[in-house]
Amino acid sequence: DSLEPFDLVLFGATGDLSMRKLLPALYRRHCAGQLPDDGRIIATARREMDTQGFLEQVYQALAERLDAAELEDAHWQSFVERVQFLQADAEDAHSFEALRAALTGRERCCRVFYLAVAPGHFVNICEHLNAQGLVTPASRVVLEKPLGHDLASARAISERIGAIFPEDSIYRIDHYLGKETVQNLIALRFGNMLFEPLWRRDWVRDVQISVSEQVGVDGRAGFYDRTGALRDMVQNHLLQLLCIIAMEPPTSIAADAVRDEKLKVLRALNPLSGKYALKNTVRGQYRAGAIAGQPVAGYLDEPEVAGDSHTETFVAIRAELANWRWAGVPFYLRTGKRLQERAAEIVVNFRDVPHSIFDVTYGAGRPNRLVIKLQPDEGVRLHMMAKSPGDRMHLRPVSLNLDFAEAFQQRQADAYERLLMDVLRGRLTLFMRRDELYAAWQWIEPILAAWQEAGDPPKPYTAGTWGPAASSALLGREESSWHEES
Ligand code: BG6
Repeated sequence: DSLEPFDLVLFGATGDLSMRKLLPALYRRHCAGQLPDDGRIIATARREMDTQGFLEQVYQALAERLDAAELEDAHWQSFVERVQFLQADAEDAHSFEALRAALTGRERCCRVFYLAVAPGHFVNICEHLNAQGLVTPASRVVLEKPLGHDLASARAISERIGAIFPEDSIYRIDHYLGKETVQNLIALRFGNMLFEPLWRRDWVRDVQISVSEQVGVDGRAGFYDRTGALRDMVQNHLLQLLCIIAMEPPTSIAADAVRDEKLKVLRALNPLSGKYALKNTVRGQYRAGAIAGQPVAGYLDEPEVAGDSHTETFVAIRAELANWRWAGVPFYLRTGKRLQERAAEIVVNFRDVPHSIFDVTYGAGRPNRLVIKLQPDEGVRLHMMAKSPGDRMHLRPVSLNLDFAEAFQQRQADAYERLLMDVLRGRLTLFMRRDELYAAWQWIEPILAAWQEAGDPPKPYTAGTWGPAASSALLGREESSWHEES
């Protein structure tokens, strides 16, 4: 479906996210012919520079990421015509006047304000936009995480922005929801009859959601040290994945139908506080080690990190949902920096068969498990038992593999491409609603409080491993193990 003319005003246009993700995403959609001719990109940043200088930076950033064929001159030249650069400083109301001049006369266009800046600037920017009369009924605002540091700050930001933009014009981005496999998970669950009847406590033994990274805190240690893995990854990405896995079938794919169901999951999370939080969570922090054979420094030796920092770079949690479908089923969440592999996956472990008629020991792991891989490659793998060839009735685990790249023979779009197009089309399904944001913080806060009260440092782990031993022990208590360990 074709898009309406638009003005996309990008704040923080010279920043890392814009150069690495947003501008390449817009460029690719431009090359695919999906942006209307009358779609303008107004890039702004605090720095003084002209459009020419800005475009040189963009070209450089694209050249580092895209194939030469994608940067073909005709594509680039037509893209350039959409772009203009204007200086705008969140701290300086006057700097918004040039923006007003650029937008005048286009009040009917879809107008998107994309705030790819530190959240400390969100409110100021929105207030300047409002004061200049730039917030039209057709305006949308896109907010990047972190949306607050705790519940109170998330509320403060939301309330002030909510006084300027109505809730259905606010797009809170969680880029995990833009990942193709996450959307495929919705298709897998609600487009097939096969899984839904089994998707409950009677058949599922546990669920694991794991996002492991090999990267450290490169270049953003200052931010990270105030944030930690729980706020940086669990509060948003992992809880959003949990919602998609655990929610009830929505009545439609409409934004509020899906978001109502996700909210119920967040509200059904058993609170983890005090001793209960300490028993069901593991905090870790990496020490020097090696990633893919290369030595790397420990977290405490990273620049801008205090030598006695207690910030966690790893977290594992055993969560439970208090509802009829999932009561008693452990949902294990895990994420960390400087781990052995870069992998994001969701594993649904089914229960053992009630009685085995085979005179064999099962092969490694559980007989049936569904592995949904988000990265590095995307696909779904269903593990089951089959007879091993030969005269004897010996069983062994085999898997049915669905590799999305192979099945569809098509480039998988980056999460931001999908999400930016959704903003331009006015589709809110893959964006977080305000009450979801609050519910997620409500669950996270008592865990942070329990850690702080306990006062002990996170458990050390060597870079390049799977995190502290306590993380395996968390599952070992229930005779389970992380997928890669079994
Ligand atoms: C971001 C976090 O939201 O997600 C980063 O702030 C993290 O710390 C990143 O590295 C991971 O995203 P992806 O898409 O690379 O898994």
